Amino acid sequence: MTSPTPLIAGNWKMNGVAASLIEAQGVAAGLGETKARVAICPPATLVERAAAALKASPVLVGGQDCRAEASGAFTGDVAAEMLADAGARLVILGHSERRAGYGESDAVVAAKVEAALRAGLEPIVCVGETLEERKAEKALEVVTGQVRGSLPAALAGQAFSVAYEPVWAIGTGLTPTTAEIEEVHVAIRAALVELFGDHGKSAAILYGGSVKPSNAAEILHAREVGGALVGGASLKAEDFLGIIGAL
Ligand code: 13P
Repeated sequence: MTSPTPLIAGNWKMNGVAASLIEAQGVAAGLGETKARVAICPPATLVERAAAALKASPVLVGGQDCRAEASGAFTGDVAAEMLADAGARLVILGHSERRAGYGESDAVVAAKVEAALRAGLEPIVCVGETLEERKAEKALEVVTGQVRGSLPAALAGQAFSVAYEPVWAIGTGLTPTTAEIEEVHVAIRAALVELFGDHGKSAAILYGGSVKPSNAAEILHAREVGGALVGGASLKAEDFLGIIGAL
């Protein structure tokens, strides 16, 4: 079994207007030879324009969340089918900002993953422990529990990735040690193999949380790290390219 193709995805979160697409185009223009698949996940309002701007490049476009239902009376929400229709190829699901801010349980995330598959989107499923959970030495238990609860059986045979994002490392400048990252990634891989057999070896396990050009090489070369989910440092083409170039 060959190792998974690395994925480096930028999560713009609630940042970006039309003028920001220059950064996405900068990534496409500056992308040299890389073994990674590269994706940019802008806010939903920009998905269609980003997809159009990146059409001629290998840079993929993703959404940041979707509703489990395909349509209906859900004011303000976006369906997986709508993201796909706008040109998205991937979707981030279960980000800690949604789990914590919108009370998304593992079951809700799993239903969204099924919706993504129904719409032909490749899910990037986020998991990660809080600082309290890490201090209580519960990181592995929490993260593998989220993996088991958030990944539905429907993922068998499908392309997907898991992003390990320790909540305390997001937007803080703090990162776990390489040994801590490896310990969690190895545990996630074991859970994936337990759930999906050999297919569990084909999913990339991304690391996310304060990844920047200066720490990217060490993180990206750690055991079982198959790429990165990048927040703040994906907003500027130069920084994002620096991370991609570190692979
Ligand atoms: P930062 O890279 O800004 O820490 O954000 C990480 C993240 O949440 C990506 O989804």
